Amino acid sequence: MIEIKSLKFSYNGFPVLKNINENIDKGEFVGVVGPNGSGKSTLLRCLDRILKPQHGKIFLNGKNIQKLSRNALARQIAYVPQKESNTFPATVFDTVLMGRKPHINWMPMKKDLDITSKVIEMLDLTDIAFKDINQLSGGQRQRVFIARALAQQPEVLLLDEPTANLDLRHQMEVMNILKSLTNKDITIIIAIHDLNMALQYCNKLIMLKDGEIFAKGGKDIITTDTIEKLYDIKVNIIKENGRIFIIPELEESEIKYTN
Ligand SMILES: Nc1ncnc2c1ncn2[C@@H]1O[C@H](COP(=O)(O)OP(=O)(O)OP(=O)(O)O)[C@@H](O)[C@H]1O
Ligand SMILES: [Mg+2]
Repeated sequence: MIEIKSLKFSYNGFPVLKNINENIDKGEFVGVVGPNGSGKSTLLRCLDRILKPQHGKIFLNGKNIQKLSRNALARQIAYVPQKESNTFPATVFDTVLMGRKPHINWMPMKKDLDITSKVIEMLDLTDIAFKDINQLSGGQRQRVFIARALAQQPEVLLLDEPTANLDLRHQMEVMNILKSLTNKDITIIIAIHDLNMALQYCNKLIMLKDGEIFAKGGKDIITTDTIEKLYDIKVNIIKENGRIFIIPELEESEIKYTN
């Protein structure tokens, strides 16, 4: 259970998160959506304690995350950034094995190697397990960092745009893997732009606008009105076989242009 209480965060005095209050239950699959710059990545980075909020507190299972040791935090929360930069040369296997670090005392045990192999297989990385991560495509690298977070076996997984670089098949596979983890009581919070993907997989949505929660709840918060206000565009919402699809409306001139 995560409790976010009166969270405020500013970069150099510029407020980015303005009084965020939210409770997230174990096993929830939360999609944080909202325009560029609305504060999604900042929120995830506060949750992983990379950023220290100037005001407010975050509790994980009743404990203030600021009071946990780095190792205790890493055993409970894993974070996959929007873009991982400055990666040192290392094989895919060794990078994923790094996820086991919070659980390893001295040397990796057989269990650590087994978990690493298992997540490498889950994320379809077996064929490239001994390639250097700096020689991979954007989507392959993205899957390596997701695998590293899974190897960490946390209670809470934070992923910033996990499917942004992935092809359609791997988007579905990653989202299916994440969904299956929520059945084991792992809580997942993702920042995601693809609203249709969020609707299909997340059981809860948080809409961020200008650093504030603009709307939150289940699929029912997705209406033409909320989407239009959030992104300032016109959309159509289509319901088919119990699924909802959001389709942006094209301006008359744009349609002519594409012809
Ligand atoms: N390191 C930083 N220093 C100063 N300002 C920052 C920094 N990182 C982000 N910001 C600013 O904070 C605001 C929120 O950024 P954030 O990255 O959280 O947005 P986001 O919702 O994740 O956007 P996107 O959809 O583009 O990923 C933006 O105005 C951004 O310019
Ligand atoms: Mg972001």
